[in-house]
Amino acid sequence: MAEELLKATGLYHVFESQAEEGNVVALRGLSVALRDGEAVAVVGPSGAGKSTLLKALGGLLKPSAGVVQLAGEDITRMAPEQLVQHRRATVSFIFQEGNLLPHLSARDNVLQPLRHAGVPHREAAARVAEMLDYLGISERAHALPEQLSGGEAQRTAIARALITRPRLILADEPTGSVDPVTARSIMELFTRLHKEQEVAFLVVTHSEMVADFADRSLELQDGRFIAQHGEDVELEDLALTRELLLDAGGNLTLTPDLLEELGGPGRYEVRDLRRHRLTLSRVMDERSNVCEACNTPFDGDETQCGNCGALRG
Ligand SMILES: Nc1ncnc2c1ncn2[C@@H]1O[C@H](COP(=O)(O)OP(=O)(O)O)[C@@H](O)[C@H]1O
Ligand SMILES: [Mg+2]
Repeated sequence: MAEELLKATGLYHVFESQAEEGNVVALRGLSVALRDGEAVAVVGPSGAGKSTLLKALGGLLKPSAGVVQLAGEDITRMAPEQLVQHRRATVSFIFQEGNLLPHLSARDNVLQPLRHAGVPHREAAARVAEMLDYLGISERAHALPEQLSGGEAQRTAIARALITRPRLILADEPTGSVDPVTARSIMELFTRLHKEQEVAFLVVTHSEMVADFADRSLELQDGRFIAQHGEDVELEDLALTRELLLDAGGNLTLTPDLLEELGGPGRYEVRDLRRHRLTLSRVMDERSNVCEACNTPFDGDETQCGNCGALRG
């Protein structure tokens, strides 16, 4: 079995804010593990915490609580200098917008990480030429980012991410701002890297094509994983193929539709517990919410009807 490349446990993240809405809890006790060479997609609505998760996993953001182990090292406790080194040796990021340096040519953008890593210029230049060729952007090597098409810019960003030969690529909506044809070629490239070079991926996406590429998908909502889906899952079928994650703390989070199906929030009793199987049955409220005598709704925890004085059942 492949080695565990990334392992996060109990991740919480709170964005402190002075604004009226107050603090935002973006991650609520997430745990996730990724094996070497594995490709995992993270799907979920906007605001679910996908980007925050990706940044925490890659050490770009220090989570409020929890531990991230990257290639066997706890990066949440690392000194900044050491973290930069460790990250550089292990992981690359690809964002929705390429984040290319505007004053550098495509070629120099790709060269930059090798320069930072202290790779001798001759060797670096050769590797960059080979990478640009591999991605089919050799002819655009001397263009500035503003002269590149969206697809070319994204491929340049990918070249820059790959040039350091990372074991893990963390990608945030990598096909989010490119046309469908470019998106397809990017995914073909990811597939090739995944299959031929066993690069591991954690990809945040809205795209079914990208989710298909992954070995499994994790569904994130409100800072929690609510479901995991195996291979060949159509995003549209998620409701039918749900698998819920029961975490080590014993928490099971239902999606809103499942919650409604079950009977909504309330008390449930365990009717039947067998191996791998739990049957819940709703406990009907013993306390009625309206007065039996006059049908007036009770206000909060009132024990006596405010209208007719009847005692609450
Ligand atoms: N820098 C920030 N400061 C305050 N709140 C933030 C910040 N970044 C994200 N958030 C909030 O955290 C939550 C999760 O955001 P994000 O991780 O960007 O979600 P996603 O990528 O799934 O759309 C959202 O409610 C968002 O508004
Ligand atoms: Mg995002």
